[in-house]
Amino acid sequence: MHVILLGTAAGGGFPQWNCWCPVCRVGRRDSRRALPRTQSSAAISRDGERWFLLNASPDVHRQLVCLPGSLPAGVRHVPVEGIVLTDAELDHTLGIVLLREARRLQLFATPAVQSILERDSRLLPVTRAFADLTVSSIPLETQVPLVGRDGESAEITVQAFAVPAGPPRFATETAPGHTVGLILRDRVTGGSCAYVPGCGALEQSLLERLDQTDLVLFDGTFWSDDELVTRGIGNRSAREMDHLPISGAEGSLSLLSGVGRPRKVYTHINNTNPVLLEDSPERRMVTAAGLEVGCDGMSFTL
Ligand code: MLT
Ligand code: MN
Ligand code: ZN
Repeated sequence: MHVILLGTAAGGGFPQWNCWCPVCRVGRRDSRRALPRTQSSAAISRDGERWFLLNASPDVHRQLVCLPGSLPAGVRHVPVEGIVLTDAELDHTLGIVLLREARRLQLFATPAVQSILERDSRLLPVTRAFADLTVSSIPLETQVPLVGRDGESAEITVQAFAVPAGPPRFATETAPGHTVGLILRDRVTGGSCAYVPGCGALEQSLLERLDQTDLVLFDGTFWSDDELVTRGIGNRSAREMDHLPISGAEGSLSLLSGVGRPRKVYTHINNTNPVLLEDSPERRMVTAAGLEVGCDGMSFTL
């Protein structure tokens, strides 16, 4: 299975259009010291031709240009077979409506994510006005086979598991499964990847689950719990925003460094996070603990 990180920034991208924090200032001045990043998304494929998106970001058009595959013969070609969602947050779903020209789109989402998209953000009704939308349910803790637009098996299964997090702030009801992590499994090679771009805590059971995979792509939104507060950008802590910070005794770096088997890569990184700086002490701490900071275009074969 091929996995490509298409976008590795949190909502807003990096540098963020309205942000002049110290990290965005470096990113604007010298992009070699802090690579530009588009908003959180990934793509998976077995054959390198038929790709499935993990979330659809507002940068989806730019991101799809980066997908490998042979040149299309026809006058129109949709380079994605389907979109698998981890939640209904805007940075993970606005791209659905931006793909409306596809005429036919396939989504895979938990029932809870589906109802927020139907009722609250209304992205599904809006998209349906332009395209024929097929939505397949991925009930929690169930391995669901991914099927291409032509009905053929992609030889990849997806399993959703609930992660500790609150629902999007515009959700009017909350049901279990509004925010999930995904395990993608290659049915032929057995290779597996955990995709967890938003997660508020790492409990023992989740650490054990991640340890059974080959690749963990994990929430690297914030370095410290008070990152937005100390910069005068926001008044909520990372944990209050349902993002476990990287640093600290109970932070994700310390907890994930004990997960020995998989390769571990941070994604969904906020523009304020000093790990974005290639030469920062925080970046060195991540690397020294055996983890990596994801960047757009990073790819893996499992
Ligand atoms: C998040 O990652 O917490 C959300 O995407 C927040 C947002 O939409 O700004
Ligand atoms: Mn986000
Ligand atoms: Zn910034």
